[in-house]
Amino acid sequence: MCGIVAYTGEDTAKDILLAGLKRLEYRGYDSAGVALEGIAPDGSTTLDVTCRVGKVMGLASELEGHDAASTCGIGHTRWATHGKPSVANAHPHTSCDGRIAVVHNGIIENFAELRDELASRGHVFTSETDTEVLAHLVEEAYARHADLMAAVREACTHVVGAYGMAAVSADEPGVIAVARKDSPIVVGRGERGSYVASDVIALIDATRDVVVLEDGQFARLTPTGIEYTDDAGEPIEPAVTHIDWDVDTAEKGGYPDFMLKEICEQPRVVRDTLVGRLSATGELDIDELGLTFEELDLIDRVYVIACGTSYHAGLVAKNLIEAWARIPCEVEAASEFRYRNPIITPSTLVVAVSQSGETADTLAAIRDARIKGAKVFGITNVVGSPVARESDGVIYTKANKEIAVASTKSFIGQIVSLTLLAMLLGQVKGKLTTGQVRMLFRELGDTAAQIQWILDSQRTAVHEAALACKDAQSALFVGRGMGAAISYEGALKLKEVSYLHAEAYAAGEMKHGPIALIDPGFPVIAVTTKSPTYDKVVSNLKECEARGAKIIALATQGDEDIKQIADHVIYIPPVRDAFSAITASVPLQLLAREVAVMRGCDVDQPRNLAKSVTVE
Ligand code: M6R
Repeated sequence: MCGIVAYTGEDTAKDILLAGLKRLEYRGYDSAGVALEGIAPDGSTTLDVTCRVGKVMGLASELEGHDAASTCGIGHTRWATHGKPSVANAHPHTSCDGRIAVVHNGIIENFAELRDELASRGHVFTSETDTEVLAHLVEEAYARHADLMAAVREACTHVVGAYGMAAVSADEPGVIAVARKDSPIVVGRGERGSYVASDVIALIDATRDVVVLEDGQFARLTPTGIEYTDDAGEPIEPAVTHIDWDVDTAEKGGYPDFMLKEICEQPRVVRDTLVGRLSATGELDIDELGLTFEELDLIDRVYVIACGTSYHAGLVAKNLIEAWARIPCEVEAASEFRYRNPIITPSTLVVAVSQSGETADTLAAIRDARIKGAKVFGITNVVGSPVARESDGVIYTKANKEIAVASTKSFIGQIVSLTLLAMLLGQVKGKLTTGQVRMLFRELGDTAAQIQWILDSQRTAVHEAALACKDAQSALFVGRGMGAAISYEGALKLKEVSYLHAEAYAAGEMKHGPIALIDPGFPVIAVTTKSPTYDKVVSNLKECEARGAKIIALATQGDEDIKQIADHVIYIPPVRDAFSAITASVPLQLLAREVAVMRGCDVDQPRNLAKSVTVE
């Protein structure tokens, strides 16, 4: 949602904060700001706050020539929730006397009430944000304690909602106080200072050993060390997590944008997600499930709950779980799930899918499902994330850090992980033999090379298809079965990165209404890979062709007939229908990106979006 970074040490804080904010920009890019400790002419310490609407690059220009002596500060990059993007609403927010500054990620649900109370005691507010109450609460508490950490701890007792926050005080030079509840905060010690961030990616150059703060834990950072305490102020020794992914992940590595880089990483994601998953005897090995085979055998209903792209991975999983395990599987938008009264029993398995592992809707749905007695299993890309911590078991998707706001490689990692789960359920329930599991596993692994083939040979075809779509007002994505599931993802991808309106339909539904949209030149992107419904999809496309649609077909290599109705054909290698979602998604991702580039869009940071959506 928003990104926080803070540093205190021996080096220039401004440079460290700007570099960290740049890496956290995927979390929000409406405005950015820093508070740096400075020295007043009389020698006393001050806080120098600089904010700018727009991206971190703008803030960096604003800070050019700024005094580089400061070695302690806090920074923030914002995705607006309370109040429009403006300098006044940008973080850091300060106390009335300007001697305390706070950055915050999360939502203060009782901010209106707190604001009224604080205002009645004489506090003056200068923004529309919920966060500003924190600065004033800390200010009041500081007047009593004269201790920043104690003041932050006390301020938190008044707050209902979620926060990851860092505060500095001009009266405690070099000290940063940090608190966390339901919003991620990582803390780490480098050789030349102490660091805080919303995500390890902002501090990975300084250290690979980090503490992921738990809810109710606090950290007090100084240039020489970090003290951790609980909500009673008692010292604690939190677990240290070692980050082992490659630092190159945080760089574009010669690609023009992260989205393309991440699309091209997908063969590796498939391979890494499968490593060590099949024993020599043909048994699937998903120890992290946290369920015995006996418990798994009792599962009689599966809900996949997720949002956005992760929800679309769930649509793929539904096809596989029902086909292989023969148990009902429902896929629900997490934001809807908890407001219904879903049928949950102790034999219900809820599978929560979330790249970030911190999506508020998904987390709320997990909590609800657990209260109702379901077993919850998480599929996430972020080690130690809230989804991982709050689930009974977890599979990590091994996509490594995904930086482009539009999910690509994590989607493929999710589908591969869900495919393993479906195979395991099928095996445990006696619907798939060990021989079948072995064969499926081998074919699943083959998709890595098939994706590589698409990346190596179909870029020109994708480019031409993109040229055919780029000036359209709208586009339709159609398919059946697996093809329908990934059509939804294709349409979402195109919408979010190119701002071209797109919708997806099960191809058979076209004749029940959407076909009215078709007029000459209207782009229809169709998944027509070889599948049991191939002939039906072709018939549906003929109906579109007859009305003048411009047809872009994703077809199986060797299918020459499709050229009779398609204006453009992008091929994928022959693959079992069950795995076609993995391969056929790749050209859809490439197509969305190409169209976005042609339309001059910022593919990595589309307008109005943020990578992690930590508000409901
Ligand atoms: O981190 P999550 O997988 O829980 O995120 C869910 C959605 O917010 C996310 O997939 C979103 O739709 C992306 N922008 C898709 O590219």
